[in-house]
Amino acid sequence: MLIVVATGNRGKLTELQSLLGPLGVEIKSMKDFPDLPEVVEDGSTFAENAAKKAVEVSRATGEIALADDSGLEVDHLGGAPGVYSARFAGEHKDDRANNEKLLALLEGVPPEKRTARFKCVVALAVPGDRIYTAEGACEGVIGTAPRGEEGFGYDPLFIIPELGKTFAQLDLDTKNSISHRGKAFARARKIISGLTAE
Ligand code: IMP
Repeated sequence: MLIVVATGNRGKLTELQSLLGPLGVEIKSMKDFPDLPEVVEDGSTFAENAAKKAVEVSRATGEIALADDSGLEVDHLGGAPGVYSARFAGEHKDDRANNEKLLALLEGVPPEKRTARFKCVVALAVPGDRIYTAEGACEGVIGTAPRGEEGFGYDPLFIIPELGKTFAQLDLDTKNSISHRGKAFARARKIISGLTAE
């Protein structure tokens, strides 16, 4: 079985490959289909965006397509950046600028009010317009300075209170075992297993 993963983000692709690898399905990415039109992520929820990406890539390739949409919800900011996480500091999608903006907006905010969560929705679109979704979330606290070198995006600022470490201080397997994406993919894997059995 072949699944086209609808992401151009290298950090995410690495995580997705490690999450899907054990299933023994062949994985292709958008790089294998350079002529695909870019999907505009204009939905107001992670679920809408994930479904839109998966459906458009499945229709364009004729293959099963998997898309995830994810982001950070910060309670003190009313749930921002949410679906705008990647472009929080501008369309250039700059992780460092995003983290700096987040730190500036939370300046002086005490630890107990810096609560946040990552959310992830995985959508699987099967030719014939069947669509499946799976969700996951991971609770944390936004730090006051970046810590750690691993991962991508907001990882250096996202502290897991139980571990006293940021996502960027965890190796990929440990991150996947607790992350929003790991949880959503654990659920998505069950859906994929069902599809391989068809
Ligand atoms: P997407 O590609 O539209 O899902 O954008 C998700 C954005 O949310 C990323 O560019 C990051 O800024 C942020 N994000 C999502 N998941 C993670 C994660 O696991 N670590 C750090 N940042 C994340």
